Amino acid sequence: MNLVLLGPPGAGKGTQAKSIATEYNIPHISTGDIFRKNIAEETPLGKKAKEYIDQGLLVPDQLTIDIVKDRLSEDDCKKGFLLDGFPRTVFQAEALDKMLQEDGKKIDVALLIEVPREDILKRMTGRRVCVSCGASYHVSFNPTKVEGICDVCGKEVIQRKDDKEDTVKERLNVYDKQTQPLISYYKECDKLSEVDGTQAIDKVFEDIKSLLGETN
Ligand code: AP5
Ligand code: MG
Ligand code: ZN
Repeated sequence: MNLVLLGPPGAGKGTQAKSIATEYNIPHISTGDIFRKNIAEETPLGKKAKEYIDQGLLVPDQLTIDIVKDRLSEDDCKKGFLLDGFPRTVFQAEALDKMLQEDGKKIDVALLIEVPREDILKRMTGRRVCVSCGASYHVSFNPTKVEGICDVCGKEVIQRKDDKEDTVKERLNVYDKQTQPLISYYKECDKLSEVDGTQAIDKVFEDIKSLLGETN
């Protein structure tokens, strides 16, 4: 199964992606996680991406597309994949369709996690992420078992630099302008499925499983 996760910042894409990837045994590919790893390791890609990410802006399309193309060519993607945070512009979506087509593949479902604006800021300011595996937590909605330590891999959890209120607001503006049009893009080709992301984390996952079950 080839999946795309859509939804505003803080919708719970990363949170649900971890469960979906385990349940369906497909790799979770998050462009945000790839950029953050490169920033932490101070690679040339990381240095470039940081200029945009810290301001809440999108990293340029071509840079992002090349990274995804490389990642999708790896062996583990043959059985399917889950893209989280990509595509984020219509240009990226078209490039994705094109690269898959060249390989005789396609996107099966674009899953939109819907959460209204007023819930998002609360989620973002309480979020903590693992420096190593990218797992997402929340100080009150989804805390780690041991404070400051990732449940999955035992490494440190920290607050993301772009989770400051002003940067979150800019990311939401960018979402409205550049990413929202993807909803129509996937609706038009009849690939869009929607879940209510305001529910409890487990309930959102139950809904996703029944939606994906129907499409299998
Ligand atoms: P990215 O890392 O993709 O960030 P994002 O899209 O802004 O989304 P988030 O990761 O903030 O939210 P999420 O939906 O994953 O929510 P989460 O599960 O963590 O991108 C970061 C930056 O990288 C971009 O701004 C851009 O600069 C760059 N970038 C990345 N991809 C790019 C691309 N394709 N093109 C160009 N630039 C790109 O959940 C949020 C919080 O809520 C957590 O604390 C969680 O515990 C909690 N939570 C989750 N679900 C629930 C629930 N149901 N109830 C209560 N709390 C919940
Ligand atoms: Mg995320
Ligand atoms: Zn971890």
